Amino acid sequence: MDLEMKTSCEPDGIEVNTQPFILIIFGGGGDLSQKKLLPALYNLFKLNKLNNDSYILSYGRKERTQDQYRDLVKTSIKKTIPGGKNNIDPRFLEKFTYLNGDSEKLEGIEKINEYICNFKGIKKYQIIFYLATPPNLSKNILNLIQNLELCDKPFKKKIVMEKPFGTDTVSAINLNDNLQKIFKEEEIYRIDHYLGKETVQNILFFRFGNSIFEPLWNRSFIDHIQITAAENIGIESRGNFYEKAGVLKDIIQNHMMQLIALVAMEPPANFEADCVRDEKVKIFKSISSMSEEYMEENLVLGQYGTGKIHGENVVGYRDEKNIVRDSNIGTFFSGKFHVDNWRWAGVPFYVRAGKRLNQKLTEIVITFKTPPLKLFGNVCRDMMANELIFSIQPEEKISLSMNMKYPGMENYPHPVEMNFNYSKLDTVSLSAYERLIVDCIKGDLTLFARQDGIEEMWRVLDPIVAYFNKINLKFPNYSAGDWGPVESKFLLEKDDRKWRI
Ligand SMILES: NC(=O)c1ccc[n+]([C@@H]2O[C@H](COP(=O)([O-])OP(=O)(O)OC[C@H]3O[C@@H](n4cnc5c(N)ncnc54)[C@H](OP(=O)(O)O)[C@@H]3O)[C@@H](O)[C@H]2O)c1
Repeated sequence: MDLEMKTSCEPDGIEVNTQPFILIIFGGGGDLSQKKLLPALYNLFKLNKLNNDSYILSYGRKERTQDQYRDLVKTSIKKTIPGGKNNIDPRFLEKFTYLNGDSEKLEGIEKINEYICNFKGIKKYQIIFYLATPPNLSKNILNLIQNLELCDKPFKKKIVMEKPFGTDTVSAINLNDNLQKIFKEEEIYRIDHYLGKETVQNILFFRFGNSIFEPLWNRSFIDHIQITAAENIGIESRGNFYEKAGVLKDIIQNHMMQLIALVAMEPPANFEADCVRDEKVKIFKSISSMSEEYMEENLVLGQYGTGKIHGENVVGYRDEKNIVRDSNIGTFFSGKFHVDNWRWAGVPFYVRAGKRLNQKLTEIVITFKTPPLKLFGNVCRDMMANELIFSIQPEEKISLSMNMKYPGMENYPHPVEMNFNYSKLDTVSLSAYERLIVDCIKGDLTLFARQDGIEEMWRVLDPIVAYFNKINLKFPNYSAGDWGPVESKFLLEKDDRKWRI
């Protein structure tokens, strides 16, 4: 059963920002820039969402001529955008200037100043600094920014920070102290790209834009919630980063916590950034701290060994590039969290994420309680609890499962699904990075993380990281292509998925 979109109120599309901007990307030649930022900027340009008066300065370590850097921009677009093989509009490429320098030695300050000063007095520009650089460079780059004269500061300034925001509570606070020396909180855009995805934003619209679900959205009607982020890829070329982060810091501390907050939060007073973020922070604060006994019973960490993905042999984590041979970094996590507040007391939130799993799948499943009576006698053994599923990957869709009478003489209940799939909409939707870049230009912080939330998320994670560091698990404990470690305490078999919860 498919649902169509009925339009009673036609959106105007995304406003074109009227304010010119200068975007300074530190790490403009890195992986994130090539895979996400440059393609997103190009799509926005093609959709006419970028002000004509916008300029991009890319800063990197390698020496590159302007032509070489523009070739890198072209290649990244050709690789990542369907149909990107066509000629790239030269007006887009002309927006770019490349500068090289070592940010650890504060190299390039004069050149950046000179670049910025060209814009002085012509128009009112905002400068957006984007840190697409390894986290260990953040302090140096902030130091570099602090030393920029910015032409006597006629510019409004903002900074975009990529995760990870620290590696624990203490380092997150230190990073923020460095940021606050230069930027006010409302000038800091901490990106969690999950929040830019349509289906993720739709969680709030779905909850607060319909009157039928919210009265049921609590411990009286919901049995449990499962949040899953499964990938079948390994760590690819990100070994250096992954060895420091692992699944706990790469996914659980940020994306998964944000998803818990969106599902669990109270309605905000209005849709302004701080009202929404206030409600999310309350949820982070309500996530219970866990004792070691609780963690032993309810949390599982895993690391993949060799196995098969799509029938192809793949190496185990310890044999990936830049990984220590006896590494104890987790690539899979599953755990039972509780949000200890009036609405959610007693409702488990099962969270799981991992690499080299059987499928690429990101979804939130809300499982309602089963009907109180088995009215249909003995033949109702297949009656399933209603499930509302927000699928984020591989498809962005929402489905609701219900029980219907199977046609015939017998009283036989049969589960059916109502589906709404974003791909069927005849409209242009922005990718997560496109959406977040536009929001940053517009000055809308709603979908960006706030420092108090970051610190609360670390409060939950720090003891979990410490616990797993202490217990010395035997890795690898699952094969690539499987569903996680077999010794996981909880097992839920659903369709063809064999999830451990
Ligand atoms: N890659 C992803 O998919 C992804 C996803 C989410 C978040 N992130 C975050 O995004 C950030 C960047 O990640 P990445 O994967 O793009 O890293 P990366 O591929 O290693 O790129 C790092 C960039 O920083 C530049 N750089 C390194 N050392 C420098 C120095 N001393 N001075 C000046 N520039 C220097 C490099 O310049 P050269 O190119 O000249 O060497 C390169 O452009 C990280 O915080 C990461 O956690 C990445």
